[in-house]
Amino acid sequence: MGNVLPIPGPEWCDDGGAGAISDAGGLHLHQLRLHAEYGGVVRFQLPGAGVAVSVSDPLVLEQTARIDERPASLFAFLEPLCEAGNLQVIGAEEHGPWRRVLLEVFAGRPSHERHFGEFVSLVEEVAERWGGAGGDAVPLQKDLTALSLRMICAYALGGVGVGVGSEVVRAEDVVDAFEVVLSGDDGTEQQTSLDYLRSTVDRVIAAREESDRGADRSDLIGALLAAGTTPARIRDTVMVTMLAAHHTTGVAVSWTLHLLGRHPEVAERVAAELDRVLGERSAPDYGDLRELTYLEMVLKESMRLYPPGPYGAREATEDMVLDGADGTYEIPAGTTVFYPFWAVHMNPDHWPEPAKFVPERFTPEAVAQRSRFAYVPFGLGPRSCEGAGLAMVEAQLTLAVLLKRFRFRPVAGHEVTPVERFVLWAADDIPMVVTPRAVGD
Ligand code: HEM
Repeated sequence: MGNVLPIPGPEWCDDGGAGAISDAGGLHLHQLRLHAEYGGVVRFQLPGAGVAVSVSDPLVLEQTARIDERPASLFAFLEPLCEAGNLQVIGAEEHGPWRRVLLEVFAGRPSHERHFGEFVSLVEEVAERWGGAGGDAVPLQKDLTALSLRMICAYALGGVGVGVGSEVVRAEDVVDAFEVVLSGDDGTEQQTSLDYLRSTVDRVIAAREESDRGADRSDLIGALLAAGTTPARIRDTVMVTMLAAHHTTGVAVSWTLHLLGRHPEVAERVAAELDRVLGERSAPDYGDLRELTYLEMVLKESMRLYPPGPYGAREATEDMVLDGADGTYEIPAGTTVFYPFWAVHMNPDHWPEPAKFVPERFTPEAVAQRSRFAYVPFGLGPRSCEGAGLAMVEAQLTLAVLLKRFRFRPVAGHEVTPVERFVLWAADDIPMVVTPRAVGD
């Protein structure tokens, strides 16, 4: 460990940091600039948090990976979705057992297999519609985020005889209500939709209790019931799951198709792999996903360049000493540690020519040579994404069905511009023209 240095960073401004972010053209460009100028650990003004320490050096990220607390002020906007405490910031003693139940369901093969057929049918509905577009461009982002909302509704509320598609829950009603809740227009319509969603979860809980499916490890509500979770916390979990799973998985797929449209040689290799593994079949089964190794590399590289969740944050729970490539720093307990996941993925010390789309960065050999924390699309440590495994299954199967059937071409003259919202969004969607392809085509 070297001498402890003050954490470098720009001059203090009276506007709380908003001006510097807007001058840079957004938070990501601001982060890239700060880390290029000051190194892998930077002190900066973050609106809403006062001062924060941003970390783009994977080796320092690793040293912070055990922090198990988020700064409440940055996540206060999610409070209205929760009745039993904001799930993003509940304390470690409550969060740990909750996380374990979620992981058991979301990361477990039984739940992936159980929902796989339904997921494929939902993707095929979109593909049918796109197939009939007759040469008109289709709005990838809009259609694919709607698709991932349908998938997660089926997943979070579905179940044998009591879920989405049954007389207990109508999928369209749930999807519509959730869209209203997310629309951001505070008001009675939003409250009515939230009430409707909560009462829907209650009806599913009641039906589950009656059908005695509580111990089914592949069923989210069943697993939460079996773990003794209160009804309010179950309602919150469904709401937060829908929020966390919906736009993220949708944009992971739309950014991937965007990149493939601009790299036809990579798209050709994906198509050849799909033809080899699936033959004349139009959709994979669960076991096929393991064979689609190049597709997986393409998806990972796309989430490096366009991470659906571009930022994270923690609050240091004790005084810490961070040993980085540029120096050793102390941060006191209570410091907001900011994670610029996007800038981490563009760190030139770990990613040569970081702006280039190169799926071969994700061969097993290349991965083994890199710090594990250089690639963090699902975050890190005890607050990382519990849905990572499920998201990969959803995204891979969606891409497999769509790329087996279609070729994607960008619309000439349409500029695709990333903007940072709750997820990494494309400002005016990603319109593309789809044309059918046959095996070997
Ligand atoms: C490609 C799709 C997805 C991406 C890129 C993504 C990314 C992320 C990121 C970056 C975080 C914050 C992690 C951190 O602070 O270290 C997060 C949290 C979370 N995600 Fe995801 N996510 C995706 C899909 C999903 C899905 C499908 C689900 C559920 C089925 C899900 C559930 C969650 C939950 C519950 C949290 C909160 C974690 C906690 O506080 O314990 N996500 N996700």
